[in-house]
Amino acid sequence: MARKKQQATWGGRFSAGPAELMLSFSESVSFDARLAPFDIAGSKAHSAMLAHVGLITAAERDAIHAGLDVIAEEVAAGKFKWNPALEDVHMNIEQALTKRVPAAAKLHTARSRNDQVATDMRLFFKWACVEVDGRLAEAQKALLALAEQDGEVMIPGYTHLQRAQPVQVAHHLAAYLEMFERDRARFAAVADHANWCPLGAGALAGTTLPIDREFTAKTLGFVDARGRPRVTQNSMDTVADRDVFIEFATACALVGAHFSRLAEDLILWSSSEFGYINLPDTFCTGSSLMPQKKNPDSCELLRGKAARLHGNLTTLLTMVKGLPLTYNRDLQEDKPPVFDSFDQTMTCLAVVAGTLTGAEIRRDRCAKAVADPALLATDLADYLVEHGVPFREAHHVVGAVVKLAETSGVPLNELATADVQQIHPALGDDWASVFDLERAAARRTGTGMPGPKQVRRQLARWKKRLG
Ligand code: ARG
Repeated sequence: MARKKQQATWGGRFSAGPAELMLSFSESVSFDARLAPFDIAGSKAHSAMLAHVGLITAAERDAIHAGLDVIAEEVAAGKFKWNPALEDVHMNIEQALTKRVPAAAKLHTARSRNDQVATDMRLFFKWACVEVDGRLAEAQKALLALAEQDGEVMIPGYTHLQRAQPVQVAHHLAAYLEMFERDRARFAAVADHANWCPLGAGALAGTTLPIDREFTAKTLGFVDARGRPRVTQNSMDTVADRDVFIEFATACALVGAHFSRLAEDLILWSSSEFGYINLPDTFCTGSSLMPQKKNPDSCELLRGKAARLHGNLTTLLTMVKGLPLTYNRDLQEDKPPVFDSFDQTMTCLAVVAGTLTGAEIRRDRCAKAVADPALLATDLADYLVEHGVPFREAHHVVGAVVKLAETSGVPLNELATADVQQIHPALGDDWASVFDLERAAARRTGTGMPGPKQVRRQLARWKKRLG
């Protein structure tokens, strides 16, 4: 009976309370307690609306608000006593409020936990997207700082992990600036999609009571750019929909894909084989056995965490695919993957920034790697094009020149002019001038290309954007 009494919210039709095992199995307060600030904001708006339409009095509303404020303070101070027997954040707060404020018995008028949890999560997503955006900006700033510090250094760019064409370090790093910028736009879109108020959908079929959904939406900031309220348009969809959860997890998963690729580049660059970068000691670890080791653990963990983010997305997609309308308790399991994606993304982006800050480009090693004249073989083909040779033929000709260099063991740019002219007469006496690295870079003047002018222009754009 004691347990039945604790379940005052729905215990009426039950003759026995839940088994201990069922209680621990079904509680969610251990992970949804973090929704408390959003839950309280939702309850304040809902009770304000109830008073606005006359379902409760102004005095009742004020008492509810005062009680919720006290609970909010207790939660913030870590003093609130969460009770797993009360299942979730919603019932914990409502019961604590009811103990202090008699009017709290009216708070759940025209509301279900189904539209309540949907509201809490939409408020959470709007907040979380801004938080992640801030961390993305920090990671971008760290990329930009490294690009400004050592960016003009040339390295080979790769395709198939084979040396391809020379690029500036800044150009390579700025590729990740673009990725994170797209991520920021994606989170802004997720926040916009979250910006619809579910309250009023009830359990699934709304309410017979004369509520004002638009009032609640406005109070909670679910408004468009012109301040007009945005309320969800189908009560069944409202409580069944988990699209924003999936979109948020997708956005996190893509951030993960991006920082994982960056991590992989840094792991390669910091290996003895490449030697392009020294990672800061503060984000590396040693070996318990091999005294000489300095391992790029932060980068490896970033790669590993990305897998976790992708797993969370898969969990959510799998969860919803077979669910009949509308709310099913399965959906309680939507929160752990979302919170985990948020927490891990936040931490990972801080680690990205930390690892990049204090990294040093090893100019000598980069210069050595980029000195290979074969990296400019394509420029030689372009030279032939400029001398009237069709590109396909030029490609073939340069292939033969490369082959000659390889078989004779002579660097490409040191072949005898007479020998290369035998391969094609359009190779003039100045043919080897294309192998001047600076000249080759300077000729790449188009938008998005790795010429020094372009790269400088891009960095200036990023500096302006990131402040
Ligand atoms: N803790 C629940 C969840 O997160 C709240 C909604 C419960 N609704 C219900 N009909 N049992 O999904």
